[in-house]
Amino acid sequence: MRQRVRREYEKIFGDGGEAREYFAPGRVNLIGDHTDYNGGHVFPCAINLGTYGMAEKRNDNKLCFYSVNFPEAGIVSADLTKLRREKNWADYPKGVIQTFGERGMELSCGLNMLLCGNLPHGSGLSSSASVEVLTGYILRDLFGFDVTNEELAKIGQYSENNFNGVNCGIMDQFAIAMGKKGHAVFLDTSALSYEYVPVSLPQAAFVITCSNVKRELGESAYNERRAESERALADLQQVIGICTLGDMTGEMFEVYQSAVRDEVCRRRARHAVYENQRTIQAKEALKRKDVETVGRLMNESHRSLSEDYEVTGDTMDTLVSISQAQPGVWGSRITGAGFGGCTVSLVQSGCVEAFQREVGKKYREKTGLRADFYAVEIADGPVVL
Ligand code: GLA
Repeated sequence: MRQRVRREYEKIFGDGGEAREYFAPGRVNLIGDHTDYNGGHVFPCAINLGTYGMAEKRNDNKLCFYSVNFPEAGIVSADLTKLRREKNWADYPKGVIQTFGERGMELSCGLNMLLCGNLPHGSGLSSSASVEVLTGYILRDLFGFDVTNEELAKIGQYSENNFNGVNCGIMDQFAIAMGKKGHAVFLDTSALSYEYVPVSLPQAAFVITCSNVKRELGESAYNERRAESERALADLQQVIGICTLGDMTGEMFEVYQSAVRDEVCRRRARHAVYENQRTIQAKEALKRKDVETVGRLMNESHRSLSEDYEVTGDTMDTLVSISQAQPGVWGSRITGAGFGGCTVSLVQSGCVEAFQREVGKKYREKTGLRADFYAVEIADGPVVL
């Protein structure tokens, strides 16, 4: 991969003698989806698929971006002093550069940046957050800014919210910027406090399956879910002193849920509250290597994302039910925002091959689509290569 990136860089930008090489991971979320903007917990890990980058400073004020994944966009160039959203992939690095500037970290000159990712695009493994964190990391390295990885995560989220118009939470950028090899990150999104939990299950593996369902209307539906959760919270705050849905236990929700006037918003809140509780329980279960409990919670999570939060869709539900029915599978669920993308399944080590074969076959029979399987490792955050 690195050789390919260097070759491409030289082809696009010339010799590249001064350019440095970088990598930022993607992430998979084990459990806890649509809880991050509701003040709950999430439990993701950074993975060894992600975005490779090469970059160097220029002698002028031009920014030149090139992505090996979007060759049709060509070299996207912009003036450092006039950054505008243009609805192409380069909006992600541009948003981060803009946010650095707003925070007093102005670039003293332009730069060339080439990216090459091996995360399936639009698959729920956070290719965009990977690009955002990588960009921040490159800026820090090239310009010597004093900014922590945690701040890089916040900058990535801020720029996605404000430059790109997606009201995402902090999970993806945090998981990527703060990733730790062999560990999942149990993050309290209210306090931004976190704990690294080793993922070392001797007889089990987390398997990622890409459904190849392209996300459609994902962004507007995402923003809509967020707004519905906020409406539910506002109703609940009339009757109980909470700051976020993550402040509620299941018992509290049962007592106060009737305060949420709209039935749809009530279901959204139910998901957010119980998913947060499941995430806390799954973290404890993983620590004791209790795969049955982790798997059961993953299955419940999927059911809730399907019925109460309605972010799965028929094809993803089909993929998950085929996966859950295979021998040696403790649990399976959609991961990330939903509306297509990937699933994550907890599978007994000896059954992984049969799982891939059977799920691939049955999924194609039922939906006509191909399933792709990713054997990933849990990786560190961004690095200079
Ligand atoms: C996307 C967002 C995250 C999170 C997930 C759902 O990945 O970027 O902030 O909300 O969806 O859990």
